[in-house]
Amino acid sequence: MRILHFSDPHLDPDLRAVPVSEWPGKRIIGAANLLLNRRRHFDRVDEKLAALDRFRQEQNVDLVLCTGDYTVLGTEPELERARKVIAPLTRAPLGFLTVPGNHDLYMPDTVRDQRFERIFGDLTGAGEWPRLRLLDPGVAVVGVHSARPNPQPWRSSGRVPPEQLEALARILALPDMQDRFVLVMTHYAPRLWNGQPDSPSHGMTNAEEFLDVCRSIRKGAILFGHVHRRYRVDVPGLQTVLFCAGSVSQNGREGLWLFEIDGSSAKAVPGRWDGSGYALAENEAYEF
Ligand SMILES: [Fe+2]
Repeated sequence: MRILHFSDPHLDPDLRAVPVSEWPGKRIIGAANLLLNRRRHFDRVDEKLAALDRFRQEQNVDLVLCTGDYTVLGTEPELERARKVIAPLTRAPLGFLTVPGNHDLYMPDTVRDQRFERIFGDLTGAGEWPRLRLLDPGVAVVGVHSARPNPQPWRSSGRVPPEQLEALARILALPDMQDRFVLVMTHYAPRLWNGQPDSPSHGMTNAEEFLDVCRSIRKGAILFGHVHRRYRVDVPGLQTVLFCAGSVSQNGREGLWLFEIDGSSAKAVPGRWDGSGYALAENEAYEF
């Protein structure tokens, strides 16, 4: 099975489309940051996502996974536009699975009106989180929801709620999971590229507990984004490998992973942007 993992496309919002009622608070600061800084780092996102779909077809990808942050300010017009832009990628033979990022849940209003669930719900699965999808032959994808609104301007941290950690432990113990290759995907990075935890104001605040639950996975990987840098990192005592896809679209940092899973063995090949399309760095492939 060939699986494409990307993250953090951060489509550029049309600021004129942001409803007046949603401006007070952190969105004004976010919009100022967008105009002053962020926009020049994300000025070709539509073009890159179209190229990503060409890459998906050329590489015979069976399944696409995205670990969130489609938007910048989490407004409904942004989410609707993002859902349209990624629509071609959802036509992979086994479909497209996703979890929300913190920018998609930027302010408490996003949670109140369930806008991510309404607009992306067909790509997350249904029911309580974590959401499990069994894929034959022999793969399971578990989506863990670690994002939350951070109304404070200085904070963009996340956490996996305790109920989800308990449910994740139960899912991982299911008899049907024992021989599968298990991919756990979430927005927040449990570890940085150097093996250290991210900062309390930016990272997954209960990464230790999350990784403890993942220790029962015999064969698999933990996939995430949020940190705009593609990397792979091993954690002592954990049989699963951690992969950060970085941002698929940030100028100069574009990254992705392509996984080839065959029974209990897997190969991960990093991908990068070459100026007009995405290409694999086969010489940097990692087997696990
Ligand atoms: Fe991001």
